[in-house]
Amino acid sequence: MIKTLNLPCKGSKFFLGKAEGPRPIKTKGVKMDLSLTRPDDWHLHLRDGDLLGAVVSHSAHHFGRAIIMPNLKPPVMTTAAAVAYRESILKALPENSDFTPLMTLYLTDHMSPNEIKLARRSGVVFAVKLYPAGATTNSQDGVTDLFGKCLPVLEEMVEQNMPLLVHGEVTDPEVDIFDREKLFIDTILRPLVQKLPRLKVVMEHVTTLDAVRFVESCIEGSVAATVTPQHLLLNRNSLFQGGLQPHNYCLPVLKREIHRQAIVSAVTRGSKQFFLGTDSAPHERRWKECPCGCAGIYSSPVALSLYAMVFEQAGALDKLEAFTSFNGPDFYGLPRNTSKIRLSKAQWRVPESYAFESGEIVPMFAGQTLEWRPSTMD
Ligand code: NCD
Ligand code: ZN
Repeated sequence: MIKTLNLPCKGSKFFLGKAEGPRPIKTKGVKMDLSLTRPDDWHLHLRDGDLLGAVVSHSAHHFGRAIIMPNLKPPVMTTAAAVAYRESILKALPENSDFTPLMTLYLTDHMSPNEIKLARRSGVVFAVKLYPAGATTNSQDGVTDLFGKCLPVLEEMVEQNMPLLVHGEVTDPEVDIFDREKLFIDTILRPLVQKLPRLKVVMEHVTTLDAVRFVESCIEGSVAATVTPQHLLLNRNSLFQGGLQPHNYCLPVLKREIHRQAIVSAVTRGSKQFFLGTDSAPHERRWKECPCGCAGIYSSPVALSLYAMVFEQAGALDKLEAFTSFNGPDFYGLPRNTSKIRLSKAQWRVPESYAFESGEIVPMFAGQTLEWRPSTMD
Protein backbone atom coordinates (compact mmCIF):
# COMPACT_ATOMS: atom_id res chain seq x y z
CA MET A 1 0.00 0.00 0.00
CA ILE A 2 1.46 3.35 -1.03
CA LYS A 3 0.86 6.41 1.05
CA THR A 4 0.93 9.90 -0.47
CA LEU A 5 2.93 12.33 1.61
CA ASN A 6 3.51 16.06 1.34
CA LEU A 7 6.91 16.01 2.98
CA PRO A 8 9.53 18.59 2.05
CA CYS A 9 12.48 17.12 0.21
CA LYS A 10 15.78 18.98 0.28
CA GLY A 11 16.59 20.98 -2.83
CA SER A 12 13.28 20.58 -4.58
CA LYS A 13 10.89 23.44 -5.33
CA PHE A 14 8.22 20.87 -5.88
CA PHE A 15 8.02 20.11 -2.21
CA LEU A 16 7.00 23.68 -1.46
CA GLY A 17 3.46 22.54 -2.15
CA LYS A 18 3.01 23.25 -5.86
CA ALA A 19 -0.03 21.66 -7.44
CA GLU A 20 1.69 20.32 -10.57
CA GLY A 21 4.44 17.72 -10.87
CA PRO A 22 5.10 14.15 -9.85
CA ARG A 23 3.49 13.04 -6.61
CA PRO A 24 5.88 12.08 -3.82
CA ILE A 25 5.07 8.75 -2.29
CA LYS A 26 6.64 6.80 0.50
CA THR A 27 6.95 3.08 0.86
CA LYS A 28 8.19 0.99 3.75
CA GLY A 29 11.96 0.93 3.99
CA VAL A 30 12.44 3.32 1.04
CA LYS A 31 13.36 6.93 1.70
CA MET A 32 11.40 8.88 -0.91
CA ASP A 33 9.66 7.90 -4.12
CA LEU A 34 8.09 9.81 -6.97
CA SER A 35 5.10 8.61 -8.93
CA LEU A 36 5.27 9.68 -12.57
CA THR A 37 2.93 9.22 -15.51
CA ARG A 38 4.73 6.60 -17.59
CA PRO A 39 7.29 8.46 -19.75
CA ASP A 40 7.81 8.08 -23.50
CA ASP A 41 11.11 8.24 -25.35
CA TRP A 42 10.78 10.53 -28.38
CA HIS A 43 14.15 9.53 -29.92
CA LEU A 44 15.36 5.96 -29.71
CA HIS A 45 17.61 3.64 -31.73
CA LEU A 46 16.57 0.01 -31.27
CA ARG A 47 18.61 -1.45 -34.17
CA ASP A 48 17.65 -4.91 -35.49
CA GLY A 49 18.71 -8.56 -35.21
CA ASP A 50 20.55 -9.63 -32.04
CA LEU A 51 21.14 -6.09 -30.90
CA LEU A 52 17.41 -5.32 -30.97
CA GLY A 53 16.79 -8.38 -28.79
CA ALA A 54 19.47 -7.21 -26.37
CA VAL A 55 18.22 -3.66 -25.86
CA VAL A 56 14.46 -3.50 -26.38
CA SER A 57 13.52 -4.64 -22.87
CA HIS A 58 15.49 -1.80 -21.29
CA SER A 59 13.27 0.71 -23.06
CA ALA A 60 10.09 -1.32 -22.59
CA HIS A 61 10.58 -1.49 -18.81
CA HIS A 62 10.60 2.26 -18.37
CA PHE A 63 8.83 3.82 -21.32
CA GLY A 64 5.30 3.50 -22.70
CA ARG A 65 6.12 4.47 -26.27
CA ALA A 66 9.16 5.44 -28.26
CA ILE A 67 9.84 7.12 -31.57
CA ILE A 68 12.00 4.55 -33.34
CA MET A 69 14.79 5.92 -35.49
CA PRO A 70 14.96 4.53 -39.06
CA ASN A 71 18.76 4.52 -39.61
CA LEU A 72 19.09 0.77 -40.07
CA LYS A 73 21.20 -0.82 -42.79
CA PRO A 74 19.39 -0.49 -45.19
CA PRO A 75 17.37 2.44 -43.81
CA VAL A 76 13.62 2.29 -43.25
CA MET A 77 12.53 4.29 -46.28
CA THR A 78 9.01 3.03 -46.95
CA THR A 79 5.87 2.46 -44.96
CA ALA A 80 6.07 -1.24 -45.84
CA ALA A 81 9.58 -1.41 -44.31
CA ALA A 82 8.38 0.46 -41.22
CA VAL A 83 5.50 -1.98 -40.78
CA ALA A 84 7.91 -4.93 -41.05
CA TYR A 85 10.40 -3.33 -38.64
CA ARG A 86 7.59 -2.67 -36.17
CA GLU A 87 6.63 -6.36 -36.31
CA SER A 88 10.18 -7.40 -35.48
CA ILE A 89 10.27 -4.99 -32.53
CA LEU A 90 6.97 -6.34 -31.20
CA LYS A 91 8.31 -9.90 -31.52
CA ALA A 92 11.45 -9.00 -29.57
CA LEU A 93 9.51 -7.49 -26.65
CA PRO A 94 9.30 -9.28 -23.30
CA GLU A 95 6.05 -11.18 -22.73
CA ASN A 96 3.12 -9.01 -21.59
CA SER A 97 4.92 -5.80 -22.50
CA ASP A 98 2.62 -3.04 -23.72
CA PHE A 99 5.46 -0.92 -25.09
CA THR A 100 4.40 0.78 -28.33
CA PRO A 101 6.95 1.55 -31.04
CA LEU A 102 6.07 4.67 -33.03
CA MET A 103 7.70 4.25 -36.41
CA THR A 104 9.49 6.80 -38.58
CA LEU A 105 10.62 6.98 -42.21
CA TYR A 106 14.12 7.93 -43.37
CA LEU A 107 13.87 10.88 -45.73
CA THR A 108 15.84 10.70 -48.97
CA ASP A 109 16.04 12.91 -52.06
CA HIS A 110 14.02 10.24 -53.86
CA MET A 111 11.06 9.79 -51.52
CA SER A 112 7.71 10.36 -53.20
CA PRO A 113 4.96 12.47 -51.60
CA ASN A 114 2.70 9.45 -51.94
CA GLU A 115 4.85 7.67 -49.35
CA ILE A 116 3.71 10.27 -46.82
CA LYS A 117 0.07 9.52 -47.62
CA LEU A 118 0.76 5.79 -47.15
CA ALA A 119 2.59 6.51 -43.92
CA ARG A 120 -0.29 8.53 -42.50
CA ARG A 121 -2.83 5.90 -43.57
CA SER A 122 -0.80 3.10 -41.98
CA GLY A 123 -1.49 4.38 -38.48
CA VAL A 124 1.94 3.17 -37.35
CA VAL A 125 4.25 5.83 -38.83
CA PHE A 126 4.37 9.03 -36.78
CA ALA A 127 7.19 11.09 -38.25
CA VAL A 128 9.84 11.41 -40.95
CA LYS A 129 13.51 11.75 -40.05
CA LEU A 130 15.86 14.11 -41.84
CA TYR A 131 19.49 13.04 -41.77
CA PRO A 132 21.68 15.36 -43.81
CA ALA A 133 23.75 12.89 -45.88
CA GLY A 134 26.92 12.03 -43.98
CA ALA A 135 25.94 13.72 -40.70
CA THR A 136 25.93 10.64 -38.46
CA THR A 137 25.68 6.84 -38.16
CA ASN A 138 24.05 5.30 -41.26
CA SER A 139 23.17 8.65 -42.77
CA GLN A 140 24.91 8.07 -46.11
CA ASP A 141 21.53 7.68 -47.86
CA GLY A 142 20.24 10.89 -46.30
CA VAL A 143 19.23 14.19 -47.80
CA THR A 144 21.40 16.29 -50.08
CA ASP A 145 18.75 18.65 -51.50
CA LEU A 146 16.16 19.56 -48.86
CA PHE A 147 14.77 22.69 -50.50
CA GLY A 148 14.79 21.17 -54.00
CA LYS A 149 14.14 17.46 -54.39
CA CYS A 150 12.52 17.05 -50.95
CA LEU A 151 10.13 20.00 -51.18
CA PRO A 152 7.10 18.08 -52.52
CA VAL A 153 7.48 15.56 -49.68
CA LEU A 154 7.73 18.34 -47.10
CA GLU A 155 4.60 19.96 -48.54
CA GLU A 156 2.74 16.68 -48.28
CA MET A 157 3.93 16.37 -44.67
CA VAL A 158 2.29 19.72 -43.96
CA GLU A 159 -0.94 18.40 -45.50
CA GLN A 160 -0.77 15.19 -43.46
CA ASN A 161 0.36 16.96 -40.27
CA MET A 162 3.36 14.62 -40.19
CA PRO A 163 6.27 15.93 -38.07
CA LEU A 164 9.77 16.28 -39.51
CA LEU A 165 12.46 15.14 -37.06
CA VAL A 166 15.73 16.86 -37.77
CA HIS A 167 19.32 15.87 -37.18
CA GLY A 168 20.51 19.46 -37.08
CA GLU A 169 24.10 19.55 -38.27
CA VAL A 170 25.69 20.72 -41.48
CA THR A 171 27.96 18.12 -43.03
CA ASP A 172 30.66 20.25 -44.65
CA PRO A 173 33.91 18.74 -43.29
CA GLU A 174 35.48 22.22 -43.44
CA VAL A 175 33.09 23.43 -40.73
CA ASP A 176 34.34 22.98 -37.18
CA ILE A 177 32.44 20.08 -35.63
CA PHE A 178 31.45 22.21 -32.62
CA ASP A 179 29.82 24.81 -34.90
CA ARG A 180 27.81 22.47 -37.10
CA GLU A 181 24.55 22.74 -35.18
CA LYS A 182 24.56 26.54 -35.12
CA LEU A 183 25.32 26.72 -38.83
CA PHE A 184 22.53 24.27 -39.59
CA ILE A 185 20.06 26.46 -37.72
CA ASP A 186 21.17 29.58 -39.58
CA THR A 187 21.37 28.10 -43.06
CA ILE A 188 18.70 25.38 -43.09
CA LEU A 189 16.36 25.21 -40.13
CA ARG A 190 15.33 28.85 -39.81
CA PRO A 191 14.78 29.17 -43.59
CA LEU A 192 12.79 25.91 -43.51
CA VAL A 193 10.51 27.10 -40.73
CA GLN A 194 10.02 30.41 -42.57
CA LYS A 195 9.24 28.65 -45.84
CA LEU A 196 6.86 26.07 -44.34
CA PRO A 197 5.50 27.61 -41.14
CA ARG A 198 2.81 24.91 -40.84
CA LEU A 199 5.34 22.05 -40.86
CA LYS A 200 5.75 20.48 -37.43
CA VAL A 201 9.47 20.20 -36.67
CA VAL A 202 11.35 18.51 -33.85
CA MET A 203 14.96 19.53 -33.57
CA GLU A 204 16.46 16.31 -32.26
CA HIS A 205 19.03 16.08 -29.47
CA VAL A 206 19.73 19.81 -29.09
CA THR A 207 23.25 20.56 -27.90
CA THR A 208 23.69 24.34 -27.93
CA LEU A 209 22.45 27.60 -26.49
CA ASP A 210 21.79 28.58 -30.11
CA ALA A 211 19.40 25.66 -30.51
CA VAL A 212 17.59 26.49 -27.27
CA ARG A 213 17.15 30.11 -28.42
CA PHE A 214 16.03 29.05 -31.87
CA VAL A 215 13.41 26.62 -30.57
CA GLU A 216 12.09 29.14 -28.07
CA SER A 217 11.84 31.77 -30.82
CA CYS A 218 9.45 29.50 -32.74
CA ILE A 219 5.77 28.97 -32.13
CA GLU A 220 4.93 26.43 -29.44
CA GLY A 221 3.19 23.47 -31.04
CA SER A 222 5.02 23.88 -34.32
CA VAL A 223 8.70 23.59 -33.32
CA ALA A 224 10.01 21.55 -30.39
CA ALA A 225 13.18 19.72 -29.36
CA THR A 226 14.25 16.48 -27.76
CA VAL A 227 16.94 16.49 -25.09
CA THR A 228 19.28 13.61 -24.23
CA PRO A 229 20.68 12.78 -20.80
CA GLN A 230 24.25 13.22 -22.03
CA HIS A 231 23.69 16.77 -23.25
CA LEU A 232 22.18 17.65 -19.86
CA LEU A 233 24.94 16.08 -17.77
CA LEU A 234 28.17 16.16 -19.73
CA ASN A 235 30.22 18.74 -21.53
CA ARG A 236 33.04 18.20 -24.02
CA ASN A 237 35.61 17.69 -21.26
CA SER A 238 33.96 14.29 -20.70
CA LEU A 239 35.35 13.16 -24.03
CA PHE A 240 38.91 13.53 -22.83
CA GLN A 241 38.75 13.01 -19.06
CA GLY A 242 41.93 11.07 -18.19
CA GLY A 243 42.23 9.84 -21.79
CA LEU A 244 39.94 9.39 -24.77
CA GLN A 245 36.45 8.29 -23.63
CA PRO A 246 34.73 6.59 -26.57
CA HIS A 247 31.57 5.83 -24.59
CA ASN A 248 30.90 9.55 -24.23
CA TYR A 249 31.16 10.10 -27.97
CA CYS A 250 27.92 10.80 -29.77
CA LEU A 251 26.65 13.09 -32.48
CA PRO A 252 25.97 15.92 -32.26
CA VAL A 253 29.15 15.91 -30.18
CA LEU A 254 29.11 17.21 -26.58
CA LYS A 255 29.65 20.97 -26.38
CA ARG A 256 31.01 23.57 -23.95
CA GLU A 257 29.65 23.99 -20.42
CA ILE A 258 27.69 27.16 -21.30
CA HIS A 259 25.67 25.13 -23.79
CA ARG A 260 24.97 22.37 -21.28
CA GLN A 261 23.77 24.96 -18.79
CA ALA A 262 21.46 26.55 -21.35
CA ILE A 263 19.82 23.19 -22.06
CA VAL A 264 19.44 22.39 -18.36
CA SER A 265 17.90 25.80 -17.83
CA ALA A 266 15.43 25.33 -20.73
CA VAL A 267 14.12 22.00 -19.47
CA THR A 268 14.09 22.80 -15.77
CA ARG A 269 12.21 26.07 -16.19
CA GLY A 270 9.43 23.98 -17.67
CA SER A 271 9.38 25.07 -21.30
CA LYS A 272 6.77 22.91 -23.07
CA GLN A 273 8.85 22.88 -26.26
CA PHE A 274 11.41 20.46 -24.80
CA PHE A 275 10.83 16.81 -24.09
CA LEU A 276 12.58 13.55 -23.37
CA GLY A 277 14.43 11.84 -26.21
CA THR A 278 17.26 9.65 -25.03
CA ASP A 279 18.95 9.12 -28.42
CA SER A 280 20.00 5.84 -26.84
CA ALA A 281 22.21 4.46 -29.61
CA PRO A 282 23.77 1.08 -28.82
CA HIS A 283 26.92 -0.03 -30.57
CA GLU A 284 28.84 -3.15 -29.65
CA ARG A 285 31.83 -2.43 -27.41
CA ARG A 286 34.26 -3.47 -30.16
CA TRP A 287 32.85 -0.81 -32.51
CA LYS A 288 33.19 1.89 -29.85
CA GLU A 289 36.65 0.95 -28.59
CA CYS A 290 38.57 0.86 -31.86
CA PRO A 291 40.63 3.17 -34.08
CA CYS A 292 37.55 4.74 -35.67
CA GLY A 293 34.84 4.34 -33.05
CA CYS A 294 31.12 4.76 -33.77
CA ALA A 295 29.12 7.70 -32.48
CA GLY A 296 26.32 6.84 -30.07
CA ILE A 297 25.74 6.48 -26.32
CA TYR A 298 23.68 3.64 -24.91
CA SER A 299 21.48 5.25 -22.29
CA SER A 300 18.16 3.37 -22.16
CA PRO A 301 18.81 1.59 -18.83
CA VAL A 302 20.01 4.76 -17.07
CA ALA A 303 18.18 7.58 -18.80
CA LEU A 304 15.31 8.08 -16.35
CA SER A 305 17.65 8.02 -13.36
CA LEU A 306 19.82 10.61 -15.06
CA TYR A 307 16.98 12.94 -16.03
CA ALA A 308 15.72 12.77 -12.43
CA MET A 309 19.24 13.64 -11.21
CA VAL A 310 19.33 16.71 -13.47
CA PHE A 311 15.95 18.00 -12.31
CA GLU A 312 16.74 17.28 -8.67
CA GLN A 313 20.08 19.12 -8.88
CA ALA A 314 18.30 22.11 -10.39
CA GLY A 315 15.65 22.04 -7.64
CA ALA A 316 13.03 21.42 -10.30
CA LEU A 317 11.59 17.97 -9.64
CA ASP A 318 8.18 19.60 -10.07
CA LYS A 319 8.99 20.04 -13.78
CA LEU A 320 10.21 16.48 -14.36
CA GLU A 321 6.88 14.83 -15.23
CA ALA A 322 5.93 17.36 -17.90
CA PHE A 323 9.31 16.81 -19.54
CA THR A 324 9.21 13.01 -19.35
CA SER A 325 5.52 12.38 -19.91
CA PHE A 326 3.40 15.35 -21.09
CA ASN A 327 5.24 17.68 -23.49
CA GLY A 328 6.06 14.92 -26.00
CA PRO A 329 2.58 13.47 -26.49
CA ASP A 330 1.06 16.96 -26.41
CA PHE A 331 3.33 18.05 -29.26
CA TYR A 332 2.65 14.91 -31.31
CA GLY A 333 -1.11 15.19 -30.64
CA LEU A 334 -1.20 11.82 -28.90
CA PRO A 335 -2.87 10.97 -25.59
CA ARG A 336 -0.71 11.02 -22.49
CA ASN A 337 -0.07 7.64 -20.90
CA THR A 338 -2.40 6.68 -18.10
CA SER A 339 -0.24 4.18 -16.22
CA LYS A 340 2.43 5.24 -13.72
CA ILE A 341 5.97 4.39 -12.88
CA ARG A 342 7.81 4.83 -9.64
CA LEU A 343 11.16 6.56 -9.23
CA SER A 344 12.65 5.54 -5.89
CA LYS A 345 15.34 7.56 -4.17
CA ALA A 346 17.47 4.46 -3.83
CA GLN A 347 21.00 3.78 -4.98
CA TRP A 348 21.72 1.25 -7.70
CA ARG A 349 24.85 0.40 -9.57
CA VAL A 350 24.88 0.59 -13.36
CA PRO A 351 26.27 -2.65 -14.84
CA GLU A 352 29.73 -2.43 -16.46
CA SER A 353 28.22 -3.89 -19.63
CA TYR A 354 25.33 -5.93 -21.02
CA ALA A 355 26.33 -9.16 -22.77
CA PHE A 356 24.40 -10.60 -25.70
CA GLU A 357 24.95 -13.25 -28.41
CA SER A 358 27.40 -11.28 -30.54
CA GLY A 359 29.21 -9.16 -27.97
CA GLU A 360 28.56 -6.61 -25.28
CA ILE A 361 27.22 -3.10 -24.92
CA VAL A 362 28.60 -0.57 -22.47
CA PRO A 363 25.92 1.71 -21.03
CA MET A 364 26.30 5.37 -20.18
CA PHE A 365 27.74 5.80 -16.66
CA ALA A 366 28.82 2.13 -16.61
CA GLY A 367 29.84 0.96 -13.15
CA GLN A 368 28.65 4.15 -11.46
CA THR A 369 26.12 4.43 -8.67
CA LEU A 370 22.94 6.36 -9.41
CA GLU A 371 20.42 7.76 -6.95
CA TRP A 372 17.03 7.32 -8.61
CA ARG A 373 15.76 3.84 -9.47
CA PRO A 374 12.76 3.43 -11.79
CA SER A 375 10.26 0.61 -11.43
CA THR A 376 6.77 -0.18 -12.69
CA MET A 377 3.83 0.51 -10.39
CA ASP A 378 1.07 -2.08 -10.45
C1 NCD B 1 23.16 7.64 -33.58
C2 NCD B 1 23.33 6.17 -33.99
O1 NCD B 1 24.28 5.53 -33.55
O2 NCD B 1 22.46 5.67 -34.70
N1 NCD B 1 24.41 8.12 -33.04
C3 NCD B 1 24.59 9.17 -32.24
O3 NCD B 1 25.75 9.50 -31.94
N2 NCD B 1 23.58 9.85 -31.74
C4 NCD B 1 22.71 8.45 -34.75
C5 NCD B 1 22.25 9.83 -34.39
O4 NCD B 1 21.19 10.02 -33.78
O5 NCD B 1 22.95 10.81 -34.73
ZN1 ZN C 1 19.72 9.43 -32.74
